[in-house]
Amino acid sequence: MAEIIISPNQKQRQFFESTARYTAYGGARGGGKSWAMRMKMVLLALSHNGINILLLRRTLGELRENHILPLQKLLGAVAEYREVQKEFRFPNGSRIKLGYCDAESDVLQYQGQSYEVIGLEEATHFTYFQYQCLTECNRASGNMDKPFPPRMLLTANPGGVGHDWFKRLFVDRKYRGNEKAENYAFIKSLVFDNDYMMKHNPEYVETLMALPEKRRAAMLYGDWDSFEGAFFPEFCHEVHSCRPFDIPIRWQRFRALDYGLDMTACLWLAVSPENRVYVYRELYESGLLLSEAARRIKEMTPHGESIRYTVASPDLWNRRQESGKSGAEIMMAAGLGGLKKADNSRITGWRVVREYLRDGEDGKSALCIFDCCENLIRCLPLLRFDDNVREDAADTPHEITHAPEALRYALMSRSPKTGSAGEKPPSYLYSFEGKPPEKNNIKSIIDY
Ligand SMILES: Nc1ncnc2c1ncn2[C@@H]1O[C@H](COP(=O)(O)OP(=O)(O)OP(=O)(O)O)[C@@H](O)[C@H]1O
Ligand SMILES: [Mg+2]
Repeated sequence: MAEIIISPNQKQRQFFESTARYTAYGGARGGGKSWAMRMKMVLLALSHNGINILLLRRTLGELRENHILPLQKLLGAVAEYREVQKEFRFPNGSRIKLGYCDAESDVLQYQGQSYEVIGLEEATHFTYFQYQCLTECNRASGNMDKPFPPRMLLTANPGGVGHDWFKRLFVDRKYRGNEKAENYAFIKSLVFDNDYMMKHNPEYVETLMALPEKRRAAMLYGDWDSFEGAFFPEFCHEVHSCRPFDIPIRWQRFRALDYGLDMTACLWLAVSPENRVYVYRELYESGLLLSEAARRIKEMTPHGESIRYTVASPDLWNRRQESGKSGAEIMMAAGLGGLKKADNSRITGWRVVREYLRDGEDGKSALCIFDCCENLIRCLPLLRFDDNVREDAADTPHEITHAPEALRYALMSRSPKTGSAGEKPPSYLYSFEGKPPEKNNIKSIIDY
């Protein structure tokens, strides 16, 4: 008979014993979170016949290093590992499935599935959307001979894209809607609680001590306030989004583009006579070649809609090795005219976006996004501060940066204060059916 002998420390024991609907554990580096998560899953699988367990990390690499390999070592004689499904099958019908959610939409693969227990490792690396989707799969699987109340287990350190929702639920304990305080338990653990580390690797404490002040407060002492959360805390759905309406024909319109093969984000914007900017349409699609992206943008712009210009990331003007042509030239050849190089001063640009999000004198902000622009509305509040560059936004997770970048280019292109003073005049590329525009056309665009 195979035996697994483990000796949890006192905090890990509390984690094992918690039967709350949602139990979070940790809050600082090295407290023994991953170990506790793994072991609790094994204990649940061994003691409840037919239980379905899902253990998730953000990326496959982390999952393999942190869990698949240690579990294979631990369960070699106890459970069978199936590589294709990435799951451990126990003789009593229980299974532990391991997964990852690299892109935000990866979570949708679990839609419709049922797991009595779901573990989120490094939960602050998951977005609120992902967490919510997973709560929907946390239900009876129908495999078990005895009923088992579904539950979720979370481990986390401060910081990351999920810092705010995790902190609200488990640290600040501020609940809304149907959330009930009694369903949420948080067991804080620090590296000092991890007897194994204190005995075998006490120098690790010195490593954490040597971190910059704010990071040290978070990672060594589990201080959730030392990390800045959302990059745009001023963003609020009720204030900054609105139902679509017919935009008067005389309002000026322009587009902003952040092109990438991984994601093309293009925004359509209109300016009201009061100078309020409305984002009224978005393209958000991965895998588009330059010419395809240009065609999609044209297709999505109804005939007769007059677009003043399309401001785009400056790297579009770099020459590509394969063709010797720049991305802008390729897009122009595909029929997308009026391209204008964006001012890519990041910090100034984010400041401009922040200004637009602030309340104006009339209580309204200078920016409003039609609620059909789901990706811009989703990504703006997810942006985090860069750990190293004050005032800049982090560029991870990369997926969430495209739509906000396009918005930054858009608002910078209108900013009189920051404009291109002292720089070369913006360069324009025209296509207008392949012909250069009339001189007075150029003037009208530049004047704008
Ligand atoms: N009760 C225990 N018995 C034996 N080893 C343990 C125990 N708890 C933790 N460890 C070991 O301590 C080390 C650190 O633990 P673990 O990786 O679980 O910490 P963590 O909190 O997940 O760290 P991080 O913040 O870096 O993710 C690992 O080598 C782990 O195997
Ligand atoms: Mg860990």
